[in-house]
Amino acid sequence: MHALKQFTSVQGKFPNVRMRRNRQYDWLRRLVAESTLSADDLIQPLFVRHEDSPAEIPSLPGVKRHTVPELIKHVEQLMPYKIPAVILFAHYDREQRSDNVVDMLTPENLQCVAARTLKREFPELGVILDLALDCYTQHGQDGIIKDGRIINDETLEVISDFAVVQAESGADVIAPSEMMDGRIGELRKALDANGHQDVGIMSYAAKYASGFYGPFRDAVGSKTCLAQADKKTYQMDPANTDEALREVALDIAESADMVMVKPGLPYLDVLHRVKHTFNVPTFVYHVSGEYAMLKAAASAGWLDYDVCLLETMLAFKRAGADGILTYAALDTARLIKEAR
Ligand code: PBG
Repeated sequence: MHALKQFTSVQGKFPNVRMRRNRQYDWLRRLVAESTLSADDLIQPLFVRHEDSPAEIPSLPGVKRHTVPELIKHVEQLMPYKIPAVILFAHYDREQRSDNVVDMLTPENLQCVAARTLKREFPELGVILDLALDCYTQHGQDGIIKDGRIINDETLEVISDFAVVQAESGADVIAPSEMMDGRIGELRKALDANGHQDVGIMSYAAKYASGFYGPFRDAVGSKTCLAQADKKTYQMDPANTDEALREVALDIAESADMVMVKPGLPYLDVLHRVKHTFNVPTFVYHVSGEYAMLKAAASAGWLDYDVCLLETMLAFKRAGADGILTYAALDTARLIKEAR
């Protein structure tokens, strides 16, 4: 009530005040827009596969798994739009995963080979590598399991070694997504000790145990590995936002360069609080299930994909995102260019 009184006394009232006056023309709407969206805000997630794995991902229409040569072709399409960076994930089905996960975390794995290749072919493109074990473990969990529990500190040792391998493969930024405690400090220590002071860390800081990751788990092959298991002992409870602020505060204290909120649309309140509490570079992940819902509704003719996509991206900017990870990065960049 207080705020309302203040506004009306400053601005007057109808009929002097007509809010629709500023909405009359396209030029005027553009002029008074409070948030803007540009290709510079986008990060494109990409899936890398072996030749004998299928390219199509039925639950993610319009997204493919790429072999390394296909990846080069695909990224060539992104370059004219100046999308700043890509983030890479690997697809391995259960049979391709070793029962000893450490055997998978080598410079020859799909993520590392793809990173090396992209840095060679496109030196000006930012390459971010997701860091977690779910693309590699037979059980599909992000950490090491012992006696039925995901064990935190042993997982930190394994991912610290892997982060160094990722940095050596050319990753500009490492994005730990496994939600173990203390990881940012440990990763920074390991990277620095191996001469990688300049490799950044984008922390999946407030990552929720969400049902919206389903299509992603299809894409990397972890869904069948997980079977009925969930990730609730390390990913956050969707009920909480104070806890998200604690997670982010800890990651900043441990030296995260950038933080992320994930998923996107169902967690705009969290995104807004994080950005306005800490004022650090804050990213949002428009996750696979959000993208899939939009695609599904559009293919049924129920929603206009282009309109709803741009509205979604703008909502992230309005809520405070500095950047957006989205499967629709290329679609978004194209739409922005067409509108200019
Ligand atoms: C795994 C990881 C997940 C995503 C990014 N990294 C899924 C999960 O935690 O199961 C989800 C991305 C998406 O749904 O688009 N560490």
